[in-house]
Amino acid sequence: MSGAPIGLFDSGVGGLSIWRQVVHALPAESLLYVADQAHVPYGNRSATEIQANSLAIADYLVAEGCKAIVVACNTASAVALEPLRQRFPKLPILGLEPAVKPAVQLTRSGVVGVMATPATFQGQLYRATVGRYATAVQVVEQVCVGLAELVEQGDLEGSDCDARLMSYLQPMLAAGADTIVLGCTHYPFVIESIRRLVGPAMAVLDPAPAVARHLADVLEKAGLLASGQQGAVAQPSRYRFATTADPSAFNRALARLVGVNSSCQALIWMPRSDESRCLGPA
Ligand code: DGL
Repeated sequence: MSGAPIGLFDSGVGGLSIWRQVVHALPAESLLYVADQAHVPYGNRSATEIQANSLAIADYLVAEGCKAIVVACNTASAVALEPLRQRFPKLPILGLEPAVKPAVQLTRSGVVGVMATPATFQGQLYRATVGRYATAVQVVEQVCVGLAELVEQGDLEGSDCDARLMSYLQPMLAAGADTIVLGCTHYPFVIESIRRLVGPAMAVLDPAPAVARHLADVLEKAGLLASGQQGAVAQPSRYRFATTADPSAFNRALARLVGVNSSCQALIWMPRSDESRCLGPA
């Protein structure tokens, strides 16, 4: 079981920002990453649809033998984490929530900006996090419609990208924020541009390293770490990728975003008799 892969999924390439930190923190693990690019962006979709897709992807990951699942998507975590945990009560399932708690600890101006998708802001998880940790600070919520798509397309540089980023950043700057939370896993791929635009005094928080550390912790406590993890000889890692859209486009994104040359598998959505859908090889 400890040699089984860890499953990760996202609507698209965003979860690769988590994937690369998991590779860094847990080099002996095998990873299976699913990108539901047939439905990206999740951020504008209904909770029902995101839940249905997340459950079907989790079914696929479990059928592939995954020993744990990382929901490498704030949007899917916001609406599907509980149903996922109900369906697989024994499986470690990690979700993401915007890093409001560390931002509150860090801010000196008392104003924190959060960048996320509409569905993440509407989700209960986010509301609960703000209610628990952010009662004494001002939280400026910035819905970044279109930013995940920009990252999917690979338009990460240039004046158009800067102008778009600035339109998201301006309200947080105007409100006096000194700390910005990246509440969507696509956004760390433009973190350098964001930092350049807001200047060095602004803290910009990417939760991915903390998520990877937490995953290591959970696996260790559950006795699920791949053997070789603690030291001596690390077994060769195996990284697999699958997408519900065009595999060659995903392969290019893999090389561009995380420097990996891999051959991604194509998956398709297939109808089931009970009107739900499942994932299968194309
Ligand atoms: N990467 C995702 C997130 O963390 C979703 C972006 C999208 O599909 O809208 O929220």
